[in-house]
Amino acid sequence: MKGIRWRAPRRAPFTPSRFLLGLFTLGLMATAAAAASPAPTGPSTSPDAGAHALLGQMTQAEKFQLIRSAFGEPDPAHGLAKPAGALGSAGYVAGIPRLGIPAQQLSDAGLGVANPINVRPGDGATSLPAGLATAASWDPQVAYAGGAMIGNEAWRKGFNVLLAGGMDLQRDPRNGRNFEYAGEDPLLAGTMVGAAVRGIQDQHVLATVKHFALNDQETARNTIDARIGEQAMRESDLLAFELAIERGKPGSVMCSYNKVNGDWACENRFLLEQVLKHDWAFPGYVMSDWGAVHSAAKAANAGLDQESAAEAFDKEVYFGKPLEQAVARGEVSQARLDDMVERILRSMFAVGLMDHPPQPGPIDRQAHLAVAQHTLEAGAVLLRNQDALLPLASDLKSVAVIGGHADKGVMAGGGSSMVTPYGGNAVPGLEPATWPGPVTFDPSAPLAAIQALAGGAKVDFASGDDVAAAAALAAHAQVAVVFVTQWAAESFDAADLRLPGNQDALVDAVARANPHTVVVLETNSPVAMPWLDRVGAVLQAWYPGSAGGVAIANLLFGKVDPSGRLPITWPRALDQLPRPQLPGATAGTSAATSVDYGIEGADVGYRWFQRTHREPLFPFGFGLSYTRFAHGEPVVEMHDGRPRARVTVRNTGKRDGADVVQIYVQVPGSPVRRLAGFGKVVLAPGQSREVSVELEPRLLAGFDTATQRWVIHAGRYAVYAGRSAADLSAPRYVQLPQRRL
Ligand code: BGC
Repeated sequence: MKGIRWRAPRRAPFTPSRFLLGLFTLGLMATAAAAASPAPTGPSTSPDAGAHALLGQMTQAEKFQLIRSAFGEPDPAHGLAKPAGALGSAGYVAGIPRLGIPAQQLSDAGLGVANPINVRPGDGATSLPAGLATAASWDPQVAYAGGAMIGNEAWRKGFNVLLAGGMDLQRDPRNGRNFEYAGEDPLLAGTMVGAAVRGIQDQHVLATVKHFALNDQETARNTIDARIGEQAMRESDLLAFELAIERGKPGSVMCSYNKVNGDWACENRFLLEQVLKHDWAFPGYVMSDWGAVHSAAKAANAGLDQESAAEAFDKEVYFGKPLEQAVARGEVSQARLDDMVERILRSMFAVGLMDHPPQPGPIDRQAHLAVAQHTLEAGAVLLRNQDALLPLASDLKSVAVIGGHADKGVMAGGGSSMVTPYGGNAVPGLEPATWPGPVTFDPSAPLAAIQALAGGAKVDFASGDDVAAAAALAAHAQVAVVFVTQWAAESFDAADLRLPGNQDALVDAVARANPHTVVVLETNSPVAMPWLDRVGAVLQAWYPGSAGGVAIANLLFGKVDPSGRLPITWPRALDQLPRPQLPGATAGTSAATSVDYGIEGADVGYRWFQRTHREPLFPFGFGLSYTRFAHGEPVVEMHDGRPRARVTVRNTGKRDGADVVQIYVQVPGSPVRRLAGFGKVVLAPGQSREVSVELEPRLLAGFDTATQRWVIHAGRYAVYAGRSAADLSAPRYVQLPQRRL
């Protein structure tokens, strides 16, 4: 068992008819109760009015019922059965039929609905590729479509609250949850997660942006204190949350396990009350992470609105008796309790939980697979392509496919976000078999997909267990494609950047046997590639998702152009990072310790590399294409009081492709250039288009802690059009007046 998480063993199956009956009853309850309730419901009811009216009719006991969820799975370790009415997932809050308040069925769903197997044995769900793949598409429409896919699948499976919207910034390539998040840049991550949240909520399923805040490593996550100054925090991790929340309007925000500047995130008045609810005017509710609550009155007064699965995960059920007593004693005001309840109800109205209860029904699995496929096709990153080895020629004679269980499927990440695939795990039996496992492969085999596109070519497979045999196979093939995998999961971090097992030796041996070697990475995040100079091509396919095999083959054969660009910096080695040693790593996962994010402060990722003149292996924003793009000189102008950059992009190659215009800004006196806007454009050969990019004012500003405002200082700002953070046009300058935002 890693960390303090405990997961229920898969429980005894219950029959589909019971499942359907349960859902049917839920629907009936909602309808019947709504009819009996004098509370206003229906599309014309404003969320505030609806919530207020309901609150006025609630008893104190009913209020307490809404401010905590139960673990939705049976929990034998604590002697807890699955709550009546719960579908069998991360959380459950019973409804209040007399008032027409539906139950809240909470499921993890960062990449796909995570719990269906508990609900209906043999069921599964569609998994998107890693969040990093979505981010690497630099296309908010891709993120929106992915969110809508998950939201629809959840709604059809009976869930109305998703613990989806992973927003922690990548400050370390070793973080075991990088695959759930959207990279290192606040603007890119905030934009993409915001779009995914909108996609989910447009399906009438409430989304949860998490983990607020600075839960940027898993090592010692339950004890670690993230130390960072206010300005740096506001301009980095908090800015990412601010943008995602502004754009996505999630119903809920989940506070994290760690401490921030000395206070637990779930009782951190600065984070919850001041920043989130006051400064950002967030009207929704704060739910805790599972096991992240440490007090009743302090947490409630700091802004926590709903305690999650307390019986199973917290030391006490703080929002039960202890909070009741605190309210009775006046330590927590009745007004605060009412506010907690009203926020929950408000979000339920705002997202449509009252009027659009989940409807069991058919899921368009082909359409959902297409979304997963398109996400990877738009988000895989071609890192290397010597002598145009890729795309593979259609008249290829022979291909050796090697390693990574490519004959069976593609790697997925572990922990609470893990999706049980339709059709089951393609490679069962790998360790760990229990939480945060089982180690899972999505059953979309690259081998079959390559065979399908390889025409008459001879396609052979070697598992890679026997390095010499794999090298021999490669030696006799025209091209070798080696798949390498790195499993990562919630609750632990990678010890270093090395690929596990014999995989480096395998790639090395294959590359020595065949100079036409392509490496496909299925990894959580950057890994070291000691063999890089010896291989012809490298494609980062992240965790590829439910249609991963097909998407990878399409990319290898050039059915689609690789248009992903790195949402992270790829370091050469750990000593380039702000913290070569992971804090807490030697002390054991439960030891109290702190992590100093003040080292890099707001200069996360590429900005740290710029500030310290380090050269990464691949810079943020980097990615190759099969075609070529010419960028015109950027034009920078003021538009409605905001700076805007226009760049003409022309496809000068021979194939269709998509390119990303990245606009970086250098604030006067700063050594770093921040991403302030971006736009992706699809172009046919010879076609050109002007890409117009609005620059986000907060990326031009600094957060002034004295006045608690963003301030753009008067001065001459350098604006660059980039193909990556390290490949920039000549600067254009724009004079900006002093301005408070
Ligand atoms: C994770 C959350 C997740 C929750 C419920 C926690 O361990 O940190 O991301 O939503 O469990 O499964």
